[in-house]
Amino acid sequence: MIADMDSLKVGLVGLGNVGCGTLQILIENKEQLAHKLGIPVEVAMLCSRSVHSRKLPAGAESIAKTTDWRDVVSNPEVDVVAELVGGTGAASDVIEAALANGKAVVTANKELMAKRGVELWQKASEAGRPLAMEASVAGGIPIHTVLREGIVGDRIEAMAGILNGTCNFILTEMEKAGRGFDEVLAEAQKLGYAEADPSADVDGYDARSKLAILAALAFGCRVPVEDIYVEGIRRVSDVDFSYAAQLRHTIRLLCVARLSSEGLALSVRPTLLPKSAILASVSGSYNAIWVKGAYGSDSFYYGRGAGPLPTGVAVVSDIIHAGRELLSCRQNRVSPYSFRQLSAYRPAPPESFKQPYYLRFRVENRFGIIADLATILRDHGIGIDAVGQLPISNWRDLPFVITVEAATHGQVQGAVETMSRLEYLIEPPLVMPMLAEF
Ligand SMILES: NC(=O)c1ccc[n+]([C@@H]2O[C@H](COP(=O)([O-])OP(=O)(O)OC[C@H]3O[C@@H](n4cnc5c(N)ncnc54)[C@H](OP(=O)(O)O)[C@@H]3O)[C@@H](O)[C@H]2O)c1
Repeated sequence: MIADMDSLKVGLVGLGNVGCGTLQILIENKEQLAHKLGIPVEVAMLCSRSVHSRKLPAGAESIAKTTDWRDVVSNPEVDVVAELVGGTGAASDVIEAALANGKAVVTANKELMAKRGVELWQKASEAGRPLAMEASVAGGIPIHTVLREGIVGDRIEAMAGILNGTCNFILTEMEKAGRGFDEVLAEAQKLGYAEADPSADVDGYDARSKLAILAALAFGCRVPVEDIYVEGIRRVSDVDFSYAAQLRHTIRLLCVARLSSEGLALSVRPTLLPKSAILASVSGSYNAIWVKGAYGSDSFYYGRGAGPLPTGVAVVSDIIHAGRELLSCRQNRVSPYSFRQLSAYRPAPPESFKQPYYLRFRVENRFGIIADLATILRDHGIGIDAVGQLPISNWRDLPFVITVEAATHGQVQGAVETMSRLEYLIEPPLVMPMLAEF
């Protein structure tokens, strides 16, 4: 480590949304950052393949530029490399090469850190260099710091989070204006809130990567992302918001982690939340995380989940932390995972946890439908809580809802599979859990 540094020199690889936000803060907030770290923070080199034609923040004119990331990671001037490329290809090479060359590394890359974070942390540890990734989950909310420092003394029992701003924007707009998913998605794409290929967001994969990272931070276990139950928001319709409103609930894409003696249950799925729940008030592109500790009970974290400047703040804060590590000549005081060693993931069996569910049906009009469905539910040991139907406009496509008492995921799946074989169903029932505890 470098105790006699007279400035901290940063190399930025990737100059898109986050890279430019980070660069803008490093330039504009230079004076205050120097006071906070105790030495100046200087940007030594910028890299992206199109760096020479890109519009960069004012003040970047005199900074050295390259189209090859190898120039940054091998630059003897550079102390900290910020990987802001994204994905699991070049980004991975940038981080490995930077660590091998003795650089501290900061990354915003949730996909890579969810897949290979444990291994990369190991490499950083062996190289004696800090590796920080605050920006990889919930952009501007410092949830990593909360879990690895702020409440590290607690034992986390459960977490629930709204971790994808695109989905939250879409669901909030559907609710506000009574509009359908496709229409709101098209608007979100026009406004730049959703990618041209929205799958990573609306199918829940982005949120799943973030939940895998949070689970490692909070529970100290390696979670293969593929093992997390995931369901996106494509099937949620304006009709569901009407029914949810009748039930005094709203719908959000919720990432949930619950630890019990039987193991860890993780899921990402659209969920009904009572309007009175604190998470139900999170709207638009905001993110939030609710954490329950065995000793400290509830705490709640809210803020911008993405965007160049909020995410840039997380990256710059990590750069300052890395600078402090280098200045104090101490190897990372705490690993980014907050546990020195991660244990294997022990998934809780699906029958270990019960919760109420919302089932929405679309059927052709027939006699005896409710009786059929009630029989199937009874056969799977599931009790009905309520049956609801809004005024009908089309007798060939009748939506209605059954809410059921607390049941296991397996019970509900079994009932839904049997129901899906009924010929008068227009589509398989839409199933969403109804949460009470957050
Ligand atoms: N956007 C957000 O609000 C947000 C929030 C939290 C976390 N993140 C994470 O932050 C990272 C960056 O996201 P972003 O939205 O800023 O992405 P982006 O706008 O697509 O920017 C990516 C940048 O990487 C550069 N790049 C790609 N391949 C490269 C290579 N081989 N060598 C050098 N540069 C390369 C691209 O420019 P060239 O094509 O010119 O090379 C571009 O400047 C991702 O990991 C993302 O998940 C983003």
